[in-house]
Amino acid sequence: MAQAMGGKEPTKKIKAALLGAAGGIGQPLALLLKQSPHLTDLALFDIAPVVKGVAVDISHISTPSIVTGYDKEDDGLVKALTDADIVVIPAGVPRKPGMSRDDLFNINASIVRDLAQSIASTCPKAFICVISNPVNSTVPIVAEVLKKAGVFDPKRLFGVTTLDILRAQTFSAEIIGQSNASSTFNVPVIGGHSGVTILPLLSQSKPPLKGVSQEQIEALTKRIQFGGDEVVQAKAGAGSATLSMAAAGFRFVERLIDAAFNGKSGVVEDSYILLKADASGSKELLKHTDNVELDYFSVPVELGPEGVKKILPIGELSEYEQTLMKKAVEELKGNIVKGVSFVEAKL
Ligand code: NAD
Ligand code: LMR
Repeated sequence: MAQAMGGKEPTKKIKAALLGAAGGIGQPLALLLKQSPHLTDLALFDIAPVVKGVAVDISHISTPSIVTGYDKEDDGLVKALTDADIVVIPAGVPRKPGMSRDDLFNINASIVRDLAQSIASTCPKAFICVISNPVNSTVPIVAEVLKKAGVFDPKRLFGVTTLDILRAQTFSAEIIGQSNASSTFNVPVIGGHSGVTILPLLSQSKPPLKGVSQEQIEALTKRIQFGGDEVVQAKAGAGSATLSMAAAGFRFVERLIDAAFNGKSGVVEDSYILLKADASGSKELLKHTDNVELDYFSVPVELGPEGVKKILPIGELSEYEQTLMKKAVEELKGNIVKGVSFVEAKL
């Protein structure tokens, strides 16, 4: 019988379904999820038939979860989603040099919409973690599909922006010569997940970025905002971030499991959510957006048994961050409307 890491077997059943599991993110994320001592079932789904081989491969690792692989044959998606507690979605096409994330909309919007429809009918209570780009629009798409199906719970839908946080930690630690301590850095990143919508709050960095000039702050901000382009250019047409994204996705899922299933309190992670998930939190944000009401924003979220427990205040912004906020809000508004209108027009 499979033994959990550390010799303990999980006490409750937790099933995760990974949609797009044969891809650049999907495969390493499947590998990381298989390391979890908490998951009991890991279902891998992809339209690429190789996913079944990926599942067999990963299933030989001696950790507790039972791994299953499904392609489109024989209702594979429904089988993968049945009884899922957590659904993670990295399905869709990645960028090539010269493309924006929004350029992926035409292909990825319908992929995500169709997957959301299956989630709505098969596991409507699952926590949903959306990785597929453009996240600023794909999260609203999932929400609209679930709303139309009458099963939407805003506390359970998350756009995964954790890679921006990893980049903020890594690049901030680097700039003050503390790269080996990057994992201990706490740098909030709010807003959305593309270019100027990514808003790192470097003024709140813990530890503080002492001795770093305003010029350096601005360069660091740009590096975090456009970190994805760095990878896209370096991969020169062969895709975008996959391995760092897998690490980021796993970090988010681990924290969600801790808060939602393992009773851990005080678990906070920035995530792109429907702000109505916690009305008091969304009011606080209005102070910073010149009273522009946005439906979706990445905010610090305290996670709990139902998913979003509380949106935490974003705190004080420096003057520079206030100017960044204006640009982020302007672009995000359009991205959100685009996602919502897509479902209105096409469903
Ligand atoms: P990839 O092309 O390597 O893999 C995508 C996988 O999705 C493929 O295996 C493909 O067969 C599968 N797929 C396509 N349509 C599907 C469907 N309808 N159902 C199930 N699977 C389907 O791409 P990748 O590098 O893994 O990137 C995936 C997505 O993640 C892209 O949209 C990319 O932009 C995005 N991404 C997001 C972040 C983030 O921070 N949120 C970071 C990196 C990449
Ligand atoms: C990233 O931030 O690396 C991802 O969103 C992928 C991309 O297109 O840049």
